[in-house]
Amino acid sequence: MDVGTHDSMIDPGSATADSTEKATMDALIIRGGRRLSGRVEVSGAKNAALPVMAATLLAPGVHTLRNVPLLSDTRTMASVLERLGARVEFRGHACKIDTSNVSSVEAPYDLVRTMRASVYVLGPLLARFGAARVSLPGGCAWGPRPVNLHLDGLNAMNAQLEIDHGYIVGKDVRLRGAQVNFDVVSVGATAQLMMAAVLAEGTTTLDNVAIEPDITVLGEILSGCGARIEGLGTRRITVHGVRELRPIDTTIIPDRIEAATLLAAVGITGGSVTLERCEAGHMAAAMHKLEEMGCEILPGNGEVTISGPSRPSAVDVTTAPFPGFPTDMQAQMMALCAVADGTSVITDTIYLDRFTHVPELQRLGAQIELKNNSAVIRGVERLQGAPVMATDIRASAALVLAALVAEGETRISRIYHLDRGYEQLETKLRGLGADVERIQE
Ligand code: UD1
Repeated sequence: MDVGTHDSMIDPGSATADSTEKATMDALIIRGGRRLSGRVEVSGAKNAALPVMAATLLAPGVHTLRNVPLLSDTRTMASVLERLGARVEFRGHACKIDTSNVSSVEAPYDLVRTMRASVYVLGPLLARFGAARVSLPGGCAWGPRPVNLHLDGLNAMNAQLEIDHGYIVGKDVRLRGAQVNFDVVSVGATAQLMMAAVLAEGTTTLDNVAIEPDITVLGEILSGCGARIEGLGTRRITVHGVRELRPIDTTIIPDRIEAATLLAAVGITGGSVTLERCEAGHMAAAMHKLEEMGCEILPGNGEVTISGPSRPSAVDVTTAPFPGFPTDMQAQMMALCAVADGTSVITDTIYLDRFTHVPELQRLGAQIELKNNSAVIRGVERLQGAPVMATDIRASAALVLAALVAEGETRISRIYHLDRGYEQLETKLRGLGADVERIQE
């Protein structure tokens, strides 16, 4: 779950609150026109780390997570866990979470509204404590993002949830196995129900589940702690409930969206870059599209090398659940299409309104026309730098990519959105030769 609200990012429960508040004032200044070259390391996956952090609530004890990306979203999840009474300690990218003394089951609105993924604590709280009080997340920057599948699924498992003054409330709950068939493929609901089912009484069958690597890996991690899960990586997962789990000890997988964003950066600037610590198999759809646009991509052992074309060719892209083209790469792809040779059509089938980046790309000179959930992009030869505003995590990344080729200077404000999902993107890009600077506005 990967969404910004219009609110500025706050992080009251953590020692980093000051720096986060300062970061709300930060902007990026990018002077375009440099080709990227060199090597860069990919960070741990935000969308894998967040559910695993929530899953630590399932078992009392000290959990160890390595390669956790240092982002405001992972700090927000740490704050949620701390509010519940867990102790969270970061040493670099290693995170220890002690869930022995959880004393509250309430995830408050002030945290959940800053990050929807906070809602992931609902299933684990119900499963271990039989109670939860979790704020409803509300809307997001690009429209409604319901949690009905989470609630319906948990209710099918006997959660008897009620909505009380904006909170999802469960009391005296004994989760029981159930058969749940999701109407639409949902990453969030699959993770939620899988976490709830591992400690439920009896067997739960989940049909039409998400098979994103983040989900499959979550299941593997839980299995490593004693959970009994069958069918991981297929559209049907069967979970046989167990009485208790051992604490988690794991290394978070590489971030496929950060990696694909860096590949797209080379696709737009040209040049040649090797990504280290990445998993090519997790981003095949994005790699194929970049190849179609003229990039040369060579996957190696835990590495991917890309050479960008002098000008990308137009492509058509339709987002779909994994292994399809990820909605989280739709905005970045649009930046490439904006300067591509020819006309591209990008359709988002996951989030029909996820186009807040369009007016900002237009400010840089992109020729984009929106028709329902499709954008028709007529590639122009050059974009021009201008002041623009980040509106959500991936929209911000799209603006960064566009700025890397725009003539002159682009100032991107509100980059706290970027900081939610990308660990030091500007430092990584600078290391590859880009002219990027972070300033305080
Ligand atoms: C989705 C993406 C995920 C991405 C994230 C943030 C998919 C399948 N999921 O995950 O890859 O990282 O956005 O950009 O590509 N839905 C409901 N009711 C629910 C839950 C979801 O109707 O209770 C719908 C959503 O409106 C959406 C679809 O199901 O149309 C997929 O949602 P879901 O996968 O749950 O969203 P995220 O977990 O946020």
